[in-house]
Amino acid sequence: MNMVEIITKKKLGGALSPDEIKYFVDGAATGSVPDYQLAALLMAIRLRGMTAEETTALTLAMLKSGDVADLSAIPGIKVDKHSTGGVGDTTTLILAPLVAACGVPVAKMSGRGLGHTGGTLDKLESIPGLSVSLSEKAFVDQVNRIGLAVIGQTGSLAPADKALYALRDVTATVDSLPLIASSIMSKKLASGADAIVLDVKTGSGAIMHTLEGSLELARAMVAIGALAEKPVTAVITGMAQPLGTHVGNALEVKDAIDVLSGRTKGDLLAVSLLLGSHMLTLAGAAKDPAEAEIQLRRALDSGAGLEKLRQMIGAQGGDPRVCDDLSRLPQPAVRRRVTVGRGGYVDAMDTTALGLAAQAMGAGRLRKTDALDYSVGFILPVRIGDRVERDTELCTLCARSEAEADAAERAIRAAITFSEEPPARPKLWEAVVTADGTRMNET
Ligand code: URA
Repeated sequence: MNMVEIITKKKLGGALSPDEIKYFVDGAATGSVPDYQLAALLMAIRLRGMTAEETTALTLAMLKSGDVADLSAIPGIKVDKHSTGGVGDTTTLILAPLVAACGVPVAKMSGRGLGHTGGTLDKLESIPGLSVSLSEKAFVDQVNRIGLAVIGQTGSLAPADKALYALRDVTATVDSLPLIASSIMSKKLASGADAIVLDVKTGSGAIMHTLEGSLELARAMVAIGALAEKPVTAVITGMAQPLGTHVGNALEVKDAIDVLSGRTKGDLLAVSLLLGSHMLTLAGAAKDPAEAEIQLRRALDSGAGLEKLRQMIGAQGGDPRVCDDLSRLPQPAVRRRVTVGRGGYVDAMDTTALGLAAQAMGAGRLRKTDALDYSVGFILPVRIGDRVERDTELCTLCARSEAEADAAERAIRAAITFSEEPPARPKLWEAVVTADGTRMNET
């Protein structure tokens, strides 16, 4: 067996055997297969797809490429949550402290930005001093001490995913159902959680743009969870526009702090409460999501959620004063307010293009080794369905230079369309998928 044969077979649309899958996955984990061959195979998989059997074999091979975290020293049911990736989508920084404040331990391993989507680790690292690299022991100790830790996948967990994820980010091979399902599920099964909530995005800013594609992805991941005997709830949520009003690493930390402080309501809070309520329910802390949401709202209103975030930032070496003084977050060299320039209604957004605009400003990577500028991105207060006038603020750009602000302004203007009639507002969520079936949002 060799890589050229495996690439050729997939290039011609063949199904790879479990042994062939194990061969390249082990090669990715150990570094024995070079990046250029892995990149070629990833593109062949992106173009030719995989059968359900291949996707399961890929997930298991990636899971077995490393260790499985042992969280048994943390009492209670540990529920993890993972998003397929969105723009302005910083639910983890809101729901993890809220769930922990309700007494359910959150031991969460998160990822970096992927393609046009942001990553929780990059956002957390924008907080001065904060480290996302903890040993497994320090991770478990922190959760037992304060109920919450959010770190990067340790090197020994699903190392094949770590290698392939970084390559996919820079080879335009992110949007592949088998690659997404196996990446997420191998990591989540390796992270040692007892149950998993998946946030599967749908719409123009999601990796899967159509509802059918998102449902297929959700069902594939729920089926893998069932094989591994882990309860999985997948919620399909809207990504027709950025979820929060802020896009960019430090900007999204600010958005999360504004939500936890009660200053900002809106879709980001609503989706965080929705996902958090499924986490509390799977953890057995509430009888159903409605009861769970009451607990989460109490933690929000009392300030207990914000206090948990402060504690976590401090425990991981960061400056907890950012929670009370947002000027301690990285600040951009250039700030520019842009107005809409016409009247009408916000009709639609190309949210992937908005994510790519932030990436081009320096908020995401174009090469594996790119360093990020944590301060850059934009604030986009308008929502689909809003009435706007000439002078309404379209966005505030946070950029490294005037030239980059010019380019971002052009990209953002091109990504948003307006109409004379009010369009329907997008739904916050479309469906909930579990091993028992699919419940569509009929509202
Ligand atoms: N998140 C992941 O962890 N992997 C993917 O492939 C997509 C989103």
